[in-house]
Formats: sequence, C-alpha cells, structure tokens
Amino acid sequence: MQTTTAILLAAGQGTRMKSALPKVMHRMCGLPIVHFGVQASLDAGCGDVIVVVGHGRELVVDYLGRAFPGDRVRTVVQERQRGTGDAARVGLGAVRRDAVRALILNGDVPLLRGDELRAVADALDDPNTRPSTPSALAFATCVVGDATGYGRVLRKGGRVVEIREHRDLRTDDERAVSEINAGIYAANVTFLIEAVAALAPNNAQEELYLTDVVAFASNAGERIATVALGAEVLAGVNDRDQLAQVEASMQARLIRAWRVAGATVREGARLEAGVIVEPDAIIESGAVLRGSTHVEGGATVDVGCVLTNVHVGAGAIVKPYSVATDSRIGARAHVGPFAHLRPESDLGEEAHVGNFVETKKTTLGRGAKANHLAYLGDGIIGDGANIGAGTIFCNYDGAGKHTTTIEAGVFIGSDSQIVAPVTIGRDAYVATGTTVTRDVPPEALAIGRTAQQNKEGYAPRLRARFKAARDAKNK
Ligand code: UD1
Ligand code: CA
Repeated sequence: MQTTTAILLAAGQGTRMKSALPKVMHRMCGLPIVHFGVQASLDAGCGDVIVVVGHGRELVVDYLGRAFPGDRVRTVVQERQRGTGDAARVGLGAVRRDAVRALILNGDVPLLRGDELRAVADALDDPNTRPSTPSALAFATCVVGDATGYGRVLRKGGRVVEIREHRDLRTDDERAVSEINAGIYAANVTFLIEAVAALAPNNAQEELYLTDVVAFASNAGERIATVALGAEVLAGVNDRDQLAQVEASMQARLIRAWRVAGATVREGARLEAGVIVEPDAIIESGAVLRGSTHVEGGATVDVGCVLTNVHVGAGAIVKPYSVATDSRIGARAHVGPFAHLRPESDLGEEAHVGNFVETKKTTLGRGAKANHLAYLGDGIIGDGANIGAGTIFCNYDGAGKHTTTIEAGVFIGSDSQIVAPVTIGRDAYVATGTTVTRDVPPEALAIGRTAQQNKEGYAPRLRARFKAARDAKNK
C-alpha cells in the first residue's frame, strides 16, 4: 500500500449543511469530518494522502497542517467545484511519480476505516483469476433499503457497465436498483488519468462525474471489481441530521472500544475521539471528556463532569459536576463536587480541591487541600498546605497578575485574603480573617484583624432601640 496514494475529495461546500463553515470542517466527536478520512487512509497504509480542498480551504489546510504534520498528508486546491471527476483530476495532478495506484474517496464519509479502504484497493488483484489479471478499476458498493440520492450500479449479465446518478436515472427499473455506489474507488494512476481526461459534463448537473470512469472502463472492455461494504460504515454527511446520526455511530464505536479495553463507561457519557481511558477507569453518565483528556486506571470521573484536555491520574476521583480545562489532576487526588479547574491547574498526588473552589494557573503540592469555597489564581501551593474556606488569592491589581507562594505545611485560616505578590513561609499559620499583604516568615503566625470587644448586656438594649424606631415609623 506504500505505493498507493489516497485522494480525498473535500472541496465541496456542503450546501445542505446551511453553514458558513465548509462541510468537512464540521466537528464529529471532537474532530473535523476530514480528519477521519485522512486517518483511515493512513491506517490503510497509503504512503501519500492528498486532500482536494476548495470551499473554506484556508481552514482545512490550516487544520490538516496541524493535525498531520510532515509531508505524508498534502492538500491541493480545486479552484471551481466542477464535480467529483474534476476534483479527482486535480488530485491526480499532484500524485508523486513513484505512485502506482490511487484510492479515491469522498471526504464526507467519516465512519469508513482503514480496513475497508484496503479491501477496495486489494480488490484490484483478484486471487481467483489465474493467471492473476488485475482489474482496471475497483469500487465499493452497498445494497441499501432506500437508494434515493445515490448513484446506482447498473449491471448487464452481472457485469458492471455504468454508475448512473440519481438525477440521471431514466426508467423505473433503474430507479428500483438498490445497489449503490459508495464513492470509494481504486485503480492504477495511469488508467485514472486517462479515464478522467475523457470525462464530459453530459448530465443533469452539468458536472464532471468521477462515476463515469466506470462506463469508460466498461466500454474499453476492462475488468471492473466491486467490493460490497456494509451500509453502517458508508453513511455520508450531507446535512446536520446526518451529521448527528453519524456522530452517534462513531460515539458508540469509540465507547465500545474503551469498554472492551477494560474501562467502565456508563450509558450517556460522551468521549471525543482523542480521549484515552485506561482499564478500570470509571466514567459516569453525563460526563463529557474532550480533546486530549486522559483518564488513568482506577480513576473515576463522576456524573456531569466536563473535562477538556485534562490528565486524570491513577485512582483520582473527580466528583460530580466539576469542570476542568488544560489541567492535571494527580494520582489519588479528589476534586469537586462543583470544582472549577481553569487552565494550567496542576494538582499533586492526593491533593483535595473541594466544592466551589476555582483554581487557575495554580499548582497544589502533594496532599495539599482546599476543601471549600476558594479562588486560587496564579498560586504555588506547597505539599500538605491547608487552605481554609473562603480564601481568596488576590492575584490581580487591575493591571497585572501576581503570584502567591504558599510553602509546604502552611495553614491558611478561613476567610483570608492573600494579596499577591506574596510568600507565606514554610509551616506558617495565617489566622482566620487575615488580609495578608506582606511576606510571612516560616513558622510565624500572621494575624491581621481588629480586636473583638464584648459589651455586656448590650443586646436587649439594642433590640429595644430598633423596635422603638420601627413603631415610630408605623404610626
Ligand atoms: C457521490 C457519487 C454517487 C455516490 C455518492 C456516495 C458522484 C458524481 N456521485 O454523490 O454516485 O452514490 O457520492 O456518497 O461522484 N467534491 C469536490 N469537488 C467537487 C464536487 C464534490 O471535492 O467539485 C467532493 C465533496 O466535497 C464531497 C465528495 O466530493 O466530499 C462527494 O461529493 P457530493 O456532492 O457529496 O457527491 P454525492 O452527491 O454524494
Ligand atoms: Ca455526499
């Protein structure tokens, strides 16, 4: 397959999506549709993948450059969308000189896998013919219940003679044909270049149809091989309802694979395609794992959590309705319920971040705890430190952000404000309700609050005064 070049047709606008975004850039399980066809082509073993782009090409080119760095995946521009035949011509114009065969596929069929693509390429060499005469062309077909909109495979005496597009069908017999063209073709590059050069826009849409290479091969008396594929892998995306259906199939496939690999993924969890869940991880219902999120073995992500690019260490517990982004959660750490880890939060092993705690660009050392109601921004918190309820790191002075450093073993009493930049030394103690504005030396007690006064017997007098005022007003 190294000498086989894949050509992915992805220049169309996708009018039926009714979107400013080109169709192949719509996301499915977290990745643009175009990603799947490219990945399947690489998985099939193609040495070179050419993506024909057109509509919204800047977005497609930019994405593919980032997702598939290197020169194995390239793009080529089809200036005007004159049909799949024209798109194939543009793609063929970019194949490398050492390419022997090409595999051409529509860019909007994301459930296809490498195995199926390889089966179409392999069908060119029919092992049942002796001596083995390769077919000029192979393509994938499928028998469907409702063939509306698809190109029909027309046969004579069992031999394929033509693919005719839905709009170009002439008789009821033709319309009744349930074998459709799946849009995946394999052939020798030289044959394809010749066949595509011969295409003419003699059809209802006045486009160049790639499907007409089938009649070209048939008329030349060439052998044509077909490979029957299951309808479930050929579902195309033409509108947003189909996108939702295809996404549901892909989601089910991803979750099944993680379950079989040993993770518990409850019904109703959603995992994007780039996510990893290790054996014995538990992903509860309603959890949404996005981007490059990785959940290590024995960790639990509980109901309703939304994790985007988060690494969850072994045995950690992320309790319900926690939201975390671009962060790390150490092994056996506890997070939530209702915690918010904003980007660059890094929780050490066995750290605890409890309900209504927000962290941002903050590291917590091993076993450090912030169990309730706190804002911890731009902080460095040492091992075993304890941050009391209601603590605020005042990291922003309206102009710049400043760092709060809390060394190991520090105890911060509840309802304290720590005004950055400031350092609280090792094992120091900050009394409840203190506003810390200066560094605290190691092992010191920082206390900053007005002294309490008790006025004996004052409460009844106060109540009487308030009552008199109320009565006077109500008169
Ligand atoms: C095509 C086939 C049809 C088949 C169906 C399977 C043709 C003429 N018809 O129809 O037989 O049953 O796929 O799904 O090929 N594209 C370009 N440039 C263009 C036109 C299209 O790159 O000028 C790309 C599109 O972005 C898309 C793919 O080619 O990814 C298929 O085009 P689309 O218009 O969706 O073809 P279908 O009508 O689905
Ligand atoms: Ca299509």
